[in-house]
Amino acid sequence: MPVELTLTLDATSAKPLQVQVFDQVREIILEGKLKAGMALPPSRLLAERLGISRNTVITAYERLAAEGYVKARGTAGLFVESIPPDSLVLIQRGGQPLTNGPVPDAVGEPLLCFAGSPGGGGDRPERDFWVGRSDPAGFPLRIWRRIVNRLLSQETAFLTDYCDPAGLPDLRAAVSTHLRRARAVAVSEDQVVVTTGGQDALNLVFNLLRSHTRQLCIENPCYLGASLIFRSAGMTVHPVPVDGDGLRTDLLPTDRGSLLYVTPSHQFPTGAIMPLTQRLELLRWAEETNSFIVEDDYDSDFRYDGPPLTALAGLDGGRRVFYVGTFSKSVGAGLRIGYATVPRMFWDEARMLKARMSNGQAWLEQAALAAFIDEGHFDRHLRRLRQIYKSRRDCLVRSLRETFDDPVILGSESGLHLVWRLPEGFPPARKIQIEARERGIGVYALSSGAAYHFDPEARDDMLVFGYSSLTEAQIQSAVRELRAISEDAG
Ligand SMILES: Cc1ncc(COP(=O)(O)O)c(C=O)c1O
Repeated sequence: MPVELTLTLDATSAKPLQVQVFDQVREIILEGKLKAGMALPPSRLLAERLGISRNTVITAYERLAAEGYVKARGTAGLFVESIPPDSLVLIQRGGQPLTNGPVPDAVGEPLLCFAGSPGGGGDRPERDFWVGRSDPAGFPLRIWRRIVNRLLSQETAFLTDYCDPAGLPDLRAAVSTHLRRARAVAVSEDQVVVTTGGQDALNLVFNLLRSHTRQLCIENPCYLGASLIFRSAGMTVHPVPVDGDGLRTDLLPTDRGSLLYVTPSHQFPTGAIMPLTQRLELLRWAEETNSFIVEDDYDSDFRYDGPPLTALAGLDGGRRVFYVGTFSKSVGAGLRIGYATVPRMFWDEARMLKARMSNGQAWLEQAALAAFIDEGHFDRHLRRLRQIYKSRRDCLVRSLRETFDDPVILGSESGLHLVWRLPEGFPPARKIQIEARERGIGVYALSSGAAYHFDPEARDDMLVFGYSSLTEAQIQSAVRELRAISEDAG
């Protein structure tokens, strides 16, 4: 016996009548007022009662059947299904909204992403020198929107199908062209694996090489993201000190079978640039000790002074260097796109590993980025950003020099951050960081600025300044205030 359905339709609403019928019947089913096995009223009857066309009711019924709320039983009509589809996915209907439960103790320190990032909770200081942040105002939104709209109007199969686990071939080809031109790294697209940012690329390479490796050598201080991977690996870790020329090659261990992580083009965090002789020394070491090198070239798209430097992977000729890159600095970290290049003999293994880890990357961002590079927008975007960031870098260096006596500034030739080594007698960097924060300024000691030092007693005398996402006026006013801040902290 079909039940009576009480529906209230509004002919003046922008919502079509068939959608109103569908929504209301669905709601009645989900509320349990129409139980499993009960019949819906025949479409003709319901249409007459509601004073609407029968086709409107049929369309709503067809959708209810297509989405699994009701099922036809021959000519007997439509009957409510026992498990409405929403019950499979909704954990709780009505009642109290779901919460995440008690908030665990705040981490207190920013990790790899700043706690004040969108969705990260917490507030960003008004003038924030958080390291390596590409300028939100510099994102090429208009072009990106145009490309994404075009892609979505042309392609849909890619949204439902799997992509190559190593990444979209168009993007891999675009990356290999860019690397050849900009970094003298001669890799083919069949040596590039697209990843979820640089962090995922580091994980991929590490997992690929752990069985070929006895110990891990890493710069000290180093990038926190790399140290998180290496320290959790349970392998012997050999920290290698860094000086003004980057990693001390003379202090590398001579045992065979190491994996070395380096940032030669802009050491993270100190900003040191490794000279060519030392790069060649590294390659010789790798050859002699049968070791491999992970070269993290995270911000090399930005070089302001002097000629471009050939990457280690370019000097190596594809034998022992695994190159890791990211679009987090050049386009935006929210894209989560990076890549690793691997020597040819590791290609099949790397592709299989990526399939095992995540079976590839989301199509839309990859396709949009490939088009962005291929159509020349990426090169133009980089040229524009380089000018903006160079002016900001100049402004920061000038302001520091005008405000403090002979400040020792490190790593300002390239990248998105520099380091001010505090003079003797100055308060510790962490103390300045805390005082500055009180005044809405974010400057960071190494331990809070995505860096890691293996010696907890190391001198706390470096302040990291990411300058790329502040205006020149913000930079000037913040540095002016830093003078009083450092005096108060002393
Ligand atoms: C030294 C270094 N390596 C790699 C990365 C990778 O970043 P992402 O995972 O955002 O691509 C970063 C990001 O700040 C970095 O500073």
